[in-house]
Amino acid sequence: MLTKKHNKFLDGKHFHNLKSTVINYGHGSITLSLSLFILFCFSSLLFFGIWQQPPPPLRRMPLRPLSTTPSTNYGVAVVSTPPTECRAGVSVYIYDLPPEFNIGLLEDCQHLNRFANMCPYVANRGLGQPLPSLGPAWFATNQFTSEMLFHARLEGHPCRTHDPARADLFYVPFYGGLHMSSKSREPDPAVRDALAVRMVEHVVGLSPWWQRRRGRDHFITLGRTAWDFMRKSDGGLDIGANALLHMPAVKNMSVLVVERQPWTGKNQHGLPYPSYFHPNTSGEMLTWQEKMRRSKRPYLFSFIGKARKGGEAMAAIRNEMMRQCEASPRCELVNCAANESSCHDPAEVLRVMTRSEFCLQAPGDSFTRRSTFDSLLAGCIPVFSSRHTCYTQYAWFLPEDWRSYSVFIEADGLKLTKKIEDELMKITPERREKMRSEVIGLIPRVTYAHPNGTRLGFGDAVDVALEALGKHIVDKSI
Ligand SMILES: *[C@@H]1O[C@H](CO)[C@@H](O)[C@H](O)[C@H]1NC(C)=O
Ligand SMILES: *[C@@H]1O[C@H](CO)[C@@H](O)[C@H](O)[C@H]1NC(C)=O
Ligand SMILES: *[C@@H]1O[C@H](CO)[C@@H](O)[C@H](O)[C@H]1NC(C)=O
Ligand SMILES: *[C@@H]1O[C@H](CO)[C@@H](O)[C@H](O)[C@H]1NC(C)=O
Repeated sequence: MLTKKHNKFLDGKHFHNLKSTVINYGHGSITLSLSLFILFCFSSLLFFGIWQQPPPPLRRMPLRPLSTTPSTNYGVAVVSTPPTECRAGVSVYIYDLPPEFNIGLLEDCQHLNRFANMCPYVANRGLGQPLPSLGPAWFATNQFTSEMLFHARLEGHPCRTHDPARADLFYVPFYGGLHMSSKSREPDPAVRDALAVRMVEHVVGLSPWWQRRRGRDHFITLGRTAWDFMRKSDGGLDIGANALLHMPAVKNMSVLVVERQPWTGKNQHGLPYPSYFHPNTSGEMLTWQEKMRRSKRPYLFSFIGKARKGGEAMAAIRNEMMRQCEASPRCELVNCAANESSCHDPAEVLRVMTRSEFCLQAPGDSFTRRSTFDSLLAGCIPVFSSRHTCYTQYAWFLPEDWRSYSVFIEADGLKLTKKIEDELMKITPERREKMRSEVIGLIPRVTYAHPNGTRLGFGDAVDVALEALGKHIVDKSI
């Protein structure tokens, strides 16, 4: 069913120029942009008018688990409760920020990223362009749009409240990742930081709800890695970062981010990268899961990517994975250097991943990869060489027992400690089936449902995040 028909869609001139950001398996995510800085002045009086009543004491709905499937905690729950009910058991208020902090940024979408025109990708609330040949739930979604998808989904979410007095959680809809990449070539750090500074002024300075818990019940979502928001003061390589995550107010919030700083990011929680599937019903989800269960997988493993130059460890491990794949008849290699378009084509990525049992997840410029989530979606068991690619990142979304859904082949300096094929061959078919079943059961939890879906019938990434925030912030009263 994953035909190549849609290639004519992606082969359009428009898309050829833009493909490098659809997945970015080949090269890095450090984006820098020379764009003019425009200072907007916003009247805070208008905003202030919202905040009238004093904050009441904490109250909250009882928690209810998202899933009722007995075999695994992560399957699709066929819900018996009314589908529009807030199952995460928390009510969330969305700050009404001036548009300069979120959708206003999209007006200059040509300059959001140095490497690509982001306009097609920020369309449809961050879903990107539809892929009709794959079905109505499929989109060419860019890796950096989690922050937009989260916002769009939360706006129509049954747990949303329009009354801050009734809220357990406060969501600050700041598109910090898109903004960061648009300012990363600014030499002046103050210019890079200015919008985040104003965001903090709005939220801390103007809202009595901040004072209630000094921001502990507030959260933001970021579609780029934490490193992009943790500018170093001691020199070193300038990746264009701003200082958002060093700001005292932001340290009091919970930050949901696609890659956390694994050692110091105490208030950072891993958020899935988006993949291409955005269903609006459990029927669509169940059909896809069933298809992945039945998918014929003639290859033991696969690798999609491009060799890196440079002698540092991440590049060396990546090149070694690629070399081992090339040397094995049991591995399907998609070399982005040989054919860029195959690497950036969602249907080609899915075709390869649905035909192999295991998918190698080499590190890129940072620990994490969007490809991890494409792999889960394709029912392909991921193989990691660093704990920080997944295990120390997505604790809210993936099982603590990483052996249940993945394989770990440790790297030692510039080398892998074991031969990949040998290690994978040691896994019995029964064990493999069990792992794949676990992977397929995880798909709903790492999926961003279509934001217009009001009767989902399954818990998606936003539901999981809200439930986890509820447990983390409200129950523990951190
Ligand atoms: C959601 O529905 C509205 C109203 O029907 C429509 O205008 C909008 O384009 C839809 N959003 C997406 C992302 O498809
Ligand atoms: C952050 O929390 C600490 C401890 O509760 C508090 O002293 C501080 O004022 C808070 N910062 C802001 C900006 O509210
Ligand atoms: C490159 O990949 C595209 C998309 O998968 C495919 O249509 C095309 O035939 C490939 N080109 C070559 C030279 O293999
Ligand atoms: C789900 O999406 C399909 C295709 O876009 C649309 O026809 C349908 O109305 C949507 N259903 C719901 C419940 O949102």
